[in-house]
Amino acid sequence: MLFEQLSPSSTLYINETVNRLWQDGEQVFHMGFGESRFDVHPRLQKALAQHANKKSYLPGRGLPPLIDAVSDYYSSKLDIDFAPSQVIVGPGSKVLIYALQAVLGADLFLPTPSWVSYAPQASMLGNRCRYIPARVENNYQLDLQELDKLVQESTNPSKLLILNSPNNPSGGAINDALLEQIADYCRANNILVLSDEIYFQLCFEPGTHTSIASYYPEGSFVFGGLSKHLSLGGWRIGVALVPPGNFGRKVMQNLLIFASETWSSVSAPIQYAAIEAYRLHPDIEDYVSDCCAIHAIRSRYIRSQLSALGIHCSAAEGAFYIAANFDSFKQGLANSGVTTSTDLCHHLLEKWQIASLPGSDFGVPPQILTIRLSTSYLDMEGDDDPDRIYQLYKSGHTGEQLMKQEHHPVTASAMRAFAAFLNSLN
Ligand SMILES: Cc1ncc(COP(=O)(O)O)c(C=O)c1O
Repeated sequence: MLFEQLSPSSTLYINETVNRLWQDGEQVFHMGFGESRFDVHPRLQKALAQHANKKSYLPGRGLPPLIDAVSDYYSSKLDIDFAPSQVIVGPGSKVLIYALQAVLGADLFLPTPSWVSYAPQASMLGNRCRYIPARVENNYQLDLQELDKLVQESTNPSKLLILNSPNNPSGGAINDALLEQIADYCRANNILVLSDEIYFQLCFEPGTHTSIASYYPEGSFVFGGLSKHLSLGGWRIGVALVPPGNFGRKVMQNLLIFASETWSSVSAPIQYAAIEAYRLHPDIEDYVSDCCAIHAIRSRYIRSQLSALGIHCSAAEGAFYIAANFDSFKQGLANSGVTTSTDLCHHLLEKWQIASLPGSDFGVPPQILTIRLSTSYLDMEGDDDPDRIYQLYKSGHTGEQLMKQEHHPVTASAMRAFAAFLNSLN
């Protein structure tokens, strides 16, 4: 069998495990799965209902008015001129990322840590993948010298670097100065960049996101979708924007062939409804910025609580994740039989009901005790919870008021569980 050395995506696996435990009546603090839980915006619900009778296949690239709306949206948001011919729509950005990896057949260079699916996708395609070492103390910032060492080892003329800012699993963002250096390096060394910007609308300091495509338009592929800022992961729609010019056109032709032989086209009602998501309606824009502000309050609160316990946490700059490092507790953990990040996750789930994901799933060496904690699920487990918290925020609750135990009881219990866990090590 081809994929014997691979296992199902760990993010989906942890979610299924936690749901099973919940069904068995167990308490679990679900910090394992990153999914924004806010309601579908009413305008989008209405648009989807209005188009429920759309039943025909659509063009493989995507519905023309949607393509136009996407290119206008990205041109306006990223302050870069994108033409509609640069846009393709797919059933989630995950499969579009796979399609690009398939089409390029490139050696892949991944910052450490990197989202769980990039490397397995490369393996499924037989593409070589190398992780760029990074240091916890440097907030996992990309080190160009380390990248260069790996680039020198690669004999494949086609090379691809994936950037993901804001980042899953660290919640950190790449600053403009570093982006510019990366762009210069990639241009000089003929390295393409897949810029996974699926979280760019969830930057905690509004207006701070810059795309590498601003510095390196000819070599950057920008990816995004509706899954994160509009909580529409289940709609399965994503977008990719290829570079302008002949090279981008050639890649697009290949992506269209890939689409035509695999997903054919994204679900028609979803594409019609998605047009509204890209039209910059002020009510949707406001909703996204409110949801982002709530993610920021919750992530920053959890980070500050964990930091106060002495846990090293990555900067909370966007998305809804924290990379928490427990190396300073190594001795005590070893006494409990914990020597890898996977051991740590099992220990946290079995003994403290905390679900998380090991850094090793994100390319961090297993003996480094980094885990990914998602901040989007706690106190948003039930279908009515996200709106309850949203309404409190809209009624003027400050971050401090919002995070009080009465409004975030599960978060408070989870933070107590972390404190008890660390105490148990002494
Ligand atoms: C960094 C990153 N990229 C891509 C995706 C894929 O998102 P989708 O396929 O829903 O567009 C995810 C989802 O978990 C993600 O976290």
